[in-house]
Amino acid sequence: MNEMPILLKSLKRLPVPHAPVWMMRQAGRYLSEYRALKEKYSFLEMCRSVELATEVTLQPIRIINPDAAIVFADILLPLEAMGIEIDFAPGPIIKNPITSSTDITSLKTQDVSKTNGYVFEIVKEVKRNLCLETQSPRKAVLGFAGAPWTLACYLIAQGPHKHYLGTNVYAREHKKSFHLLMDKLTTLIEDYLIGQVEAGADAVQLFDTWGGNLGAKDYEELSLPYVQRIVQTIQSRGCPLVFYVNGSNHLLPQMLASGADCLSIDWRTDLKEAIKQYGERVCFQGNLDPTLLYGSKDEIRARTKEMLSAVETQTGYIANLGHGILSTTPREHAKYFIDVVHEGFLANA
Ligand code: CP3
Repeated sequence: MNEMPILLKSLKRLPVPHAPVWMMRQAGRYLSEYRALKEKYSFLEMCRSVELATEVTLQPIRIINPDAAIVFADILLPLEAMGIEIDFAPGPIIKNPITSSTDITSLKTQDVSKTNGYVFEIVKEVKRNLCLETQSPRKAVLGFAGAPWTLACYLIAQGPHKHYLGTNVYAREHKKSFHLLMDKLTTLIEDYLIGQVEAGADAVQLFDTWGGNLGAKDYEELSLPYVQRIVQTIQSRGCPLVFYVNGSNHLLPQMLASGADCLSIDWRTDLKEAIKQYGERVCFQGNLDPTLLYGSKDEIRARTKEMLSAVETQTGYIANLGHGILSTTPREHAKYFIDVVHEGFLANA
């Protein structure tokens, strides 16, 4: 019962019988059990109810059997501690976006447990239930947060700019207030992740989904220093951190410089090459293209085996998709992906 979760073993580079595997966005609309609850409750109601969020977190554990449960929440939730009003339709909506430097100086700096303490309760409940429901080895509980840059992308009013490029424009035009915003977001995210670690998260993932919008030099100035601060804070609490950047093929040296324990990459990066170049210094997570799960089982099998064959060390690696599972993915294909990884590194097609 108390054996170390296989996902933690991989992060600590201990030997594992198969790669630990989970899927980003593994709780959600591709599961009919989730959709049934969604008919009765809004997304935010589900996030804010400890009972419902725990149930939704555990649904994929029972149905597709991954090695980790990621707490059901959203990267935007902790922004409420700053006085930001959010909604989902289903994409994120910020009701009071940032349009001026006064909006940034007047952001609230209250204790995140006041607005988001329920997330810490969900971590505890998920962990308690995983201990009761699953056999040894226990499955890992993952906490998460958005990286400051990505949160700034949602917070800053974008004007005419598509794909959150308005944030790049704002950061260059209003350097001082941009960095003040990043500093405030970093402090918020540190406290929010510490709350999850103290509640029992085995590891946490930081999502810099929009980091790939920046070139390497700008990433080093506008996002990386804040990520480094968060990584140090979390690691000093003894918790490993997985760092995800979408569209990060040009940012691997910067991701390495974050100091994270594990880099989560998408399918546009060659996993074998990445491991060859950086694998002795950092663990990797990824990187199957989520659209491949719409293919036949034979194709899923072949591409999953190909991904696993890139990993020669048999440790220091977590299997995952390169981004979130798409909402119309056939569930039996999601399960098949997990099953193929569970066969082990060496089993033949
Ligand atoms: O991985 C999991 O299973 C945990 C749950 C989770 C959600 N959001 C639930 C969610 C996680 C880890 C996130 C993180 C998140 N949220 C990110 C970073 C990861 C990534 O995808 O790049 C980002 C950028 C967001 C912001 C966000 N929230 C978007 C863009 C959307 C719309 C997505 C969509 O598919 O429509 C959301 C809403 C959201 N977050 C849903 C879920 C299950 C859909 C809500 C619904 O069911 O109506």
